[in-house]
Amino acid sequence: MEDKKKDLLRRLTIISIPFVFVAIPSIVIFVGMLSPHAAGPKVAVASPEQNHTVGMLSTMTGGQMILSCRAAFAGNWEYFHYFILDPYKPQHAFFQPQTDHYAILCKWGYMGNFLQDVVVFNSSEPYAKLCAVNAGGCRYLFQDGQMFLVTGRHATKAAPWQHREKKLIGDVLLRDCKHILGIFPTMCHYTKHDHQYVGKIISRWSWWFNY
Ligand SMILES: *[C@@H]1O[C@H](CO)[C@@H](O)[C@H](O)[C@H]1NC(C)=O
Ligand SMILES: *[C@@H]1O[C@H](CO)[C@@H](O)[C@H](O)[C@H]1NC(C)=O
Repeated sequence: MEDKKKDLLRRLTIISIPFVFVAIPSIVIFVGMLSPHAAGPKVAVASPEQNHTVGMLSTMTGGQMILSCRAAFAGNWEYFHYFILDPYKPQHAFFQPQTDHYAILCKWGYMGNFLQDVVVFNSSEPYAKLCAVNAGGCRYLFQDGQMFLVTGRHATKAAPWQHREKKLIGDVLLRDCKHILGIFPTMCHYTKHDHQYVGKIISRWSWWFNY
């Protein structure tokens, strides 16, 4: 009698395993799919004038360049985007500025050199309208220790009025380090630069996070 009970219990357990691990989750997923909450967040499509883009391209081959950006507006700020740039591989991100005073500021890093408050969008500056997707967007080029803003598009036969502009923003921080005989600590000095740095020097890196 005892044995029969045990056997029945064992059978019930075996039968219930697929139910617990397959049937119940399936029902939960299925019901979830039917419920309006599972429809996924709908991203409203912005008008072409509202939709903006910033692009980044580094042609400096010493290593990856990193940018961690946040948006500041109405006395507040929120995480925007990060870029990890391999040389010659452009990346871009989209955004829709909601207020009149909207700026995007980045931390910048390259080979152990760090800057903060590198402004890549400022709605109060004349170039802001060129960052709209339909105007071609704002593209930042890091080349030979300098940061450029590239806007517009090359003129074409169909659109001869278009023009592309490349404007110097300033210099990025670079250090020259020497290992003397391998016994003394590495000697570093900032390399000579002709223009203002594009941001403020910081000694350590930390990311802006999305939380
Ligand atoms: C902004 O434009 C890009 C490229 O055209 C598009 O993929 C993206 O969905 C647009 N974003 C919004 C919010 O409309
Ligand atoms: C944006 O531009 C305005 C006007 O030039 C300036 O007063 C403001 O400080 C700028 N904001 C940032 C974050 O650079």
